[in-house]
Amino acid sequence: MADYTIVDHEYDVVVIGAGGAGLRATFGMVQNGLKTACITKVFPTRSHTVAAQGGVGAALGNMAEDNWIWHMYDTVKGSDWLGDQDAIEYMCREAIPAVQELEHYGVPFSRTPEGKIYQRPFGGHMRNFGEAPVQRACAAADRTGHAILHTLYQQSLKHKAEFFVEYFAIDLIMNSEGACQGVVALDMATGTIHRFKSHMTVMATGGYGRAYFSCTSAHTCTGDGNAMIARAGLPLQDMEFVQFHPTGVYGAGVLITEGARGEGGYLTNSQGERFMERYAPTAKDLASRDVVSRAMTMEIREGRGVGVDNDHILLHLEHLGSEVLWQRLPGITETSKVFAGVDATKEPIPVLPTVHYNMGGIPTNYMGEVINPTVENPDAVVPGLMAIGEAASVSVHGANRLGTNSLLDIVVFGRAAALRAKDIVKKEAHHAKLPKDSADLALSRLDRLRNASGSLTTAQIRRDMQRNMQNDAAVFRTSQTLKEGCDKISQVARSLEDIKVADRSLIFNTDLIEALELENLMSCALTTIIGAEGRHESRGAHAHEDYPDRDDENWMKHTLAWVGDEWKVKLDYRPVHTYTLTNEVEYIKPKARVY
Ligand code: FUM
Repeated sequence: MADYTIVDHEYDVVVIGAGGAGLRATFGMVQNGLKTACITKVFPTRSHTVAAQGGVGAALGNMAEDNWIWHMYDTVKGSDWLGDQDAIEYMCREAIPAVQELEHYGVPFSRTPEGKIYQRPFGGHMRNFGEAPVQRACAAADRTGHAILHTLYQQSLKHKAEFFVEYFAIDLIMNSEGACQGVVALDMATGTIHRFKSHMTVMATGGYGRAYFSCTSAHTCTGDGNAMIARAGLPLQDMEFVQFHPTGVYGAGVLITEGARGEGGYLTNSQGERFMERYAPTAKDLASRDVVSRAMTMEIREGRGVGVDNDHILLHLEHLGSEVLWQRLPGITETSKVFAGVDATKEPIPVLPTVHYNMGGIPTNYMGEVINPTVENPDAVVPGLMAIGEAASVSVHGANRLGTNSLLDIVVFGRAAALRAKDIVKKEAHHAKLPKDSADLALSRLDRLRNASGSLTTAQIRRDMQRNMQNDAAVFRTSQTLKEGCDKISQVARSLEDIKVADRSLIFNTDLIEALELENLMSCALTTIIGAEGRHESRGAHAHEDYPDRDDENWMKHTLAWVGDEWKVKLDYRPVHTYTLTNEVEYIKPKARVY
């Protein structure tokens, strides 16, 4: 191995990632007096939270009566009963103070005429346990994520959080007792290696949408934290549950917010029919995302898609009028023009379900602590390690996330992580000695890729992975597509042995960074497709045509997936929590999921 010079740092807490979850945790930690560093591979305000559009869910009741218990019911139902109800209770109750807090921090929410936070309807959010849609999504026009991210970054600066910007986290430092002691990162601009010792390391690295060919996720969404966990020998949870957002722009995959349907938009097929009325008679176009995405796919399969190839669907907003569009949905009005060449005030937008969110990820409890379930202790905590946001699987989203619950998840659990750290991290305590080989996992990986001189480029291998995932781990899955998909993705993973990285430099070597990201994506892709092949039922986003029904007797359990040598994946399961956190609410028993 080359001789690397290492710059050492010591912090109480290191947060990896500066999206909404990472920033909320970072300044919360500083506020609690903990010396905290935030390491991020992109400038904080370029993190993918910036792209979230329609709103953050909280039962504020600003537009009509609402109740956090209804929100909890909708979230449990949306999760198709795979969500852990203690965590869901926590999130839906805490949603109200968390959003009020955001308002006080300065998020420029849209307003009602009386000056309250404006709320719009969103898929699967209903009043009175499923009766009719409710307005629960607190919106800043259709740029809610942008507004929240910038506000949280400003708060972080105000609290004097320390940032390490454009640092790429390579691997965790784990000791022989299985505790985390920090992380090794590469400063991409200078090529220097940095070893961060910390009492608590928080993974806030986002999702892995880029394992697929067409997604709404930024190019930076490469599952870096998930893969670090896998390389540390810890399991990932429920990776087979990948959300397809119903309205990605056809051909481009760019997001058109569900808020568009919340404002009154609707979908039609080639016969001009508002087909959602057939699939979800009550909620119609505002049914849960998995339901709408499947309905659209069925329409296309049955020959009622639009366009020359009958391969997409139309989203109508033109009836809303340009005043509503420019006031409430300015971002997507612009997006439609740029990416679909369509004037949304006059004509419908061509759309197609597109990969949008990963319900699975790093298993945690509702306080953000990473868990490593064992038979004796299914809730065993990994000391020194937390995960929050899309990287984590708390699990509040279960098999399918409701729109607006991702912005909610990042603020509630970013805040929860800071609260928990306050209780368990001793300020500026002495750091235990690091294991002798503390940087070896990271540096040997870096060394191997810098010297990789095979015959395949990163782009070639990535394209193979993305196309196979798109074809074989899609909206609908069958035993055959999943079996073939597992074989193909395993083969693509093995082809990483033949990768070539153009340049050995450590300084601003984008080819090297993309190779590191590709390895990270591969762990995510494999655990997704192998987890999907293993689950013999249909639940939420996992629609298995050979097992079309939900099977609560055998499958109300979370999948755990470990990535071993030569990309071999091992699966096991842990039970879903069938209890609530307090006596204020009762466990919601599984029932048929109709909208
Ligand atoms: O449709 C949207 O605006 C996306 C929101 C979300 O994923 O929560």
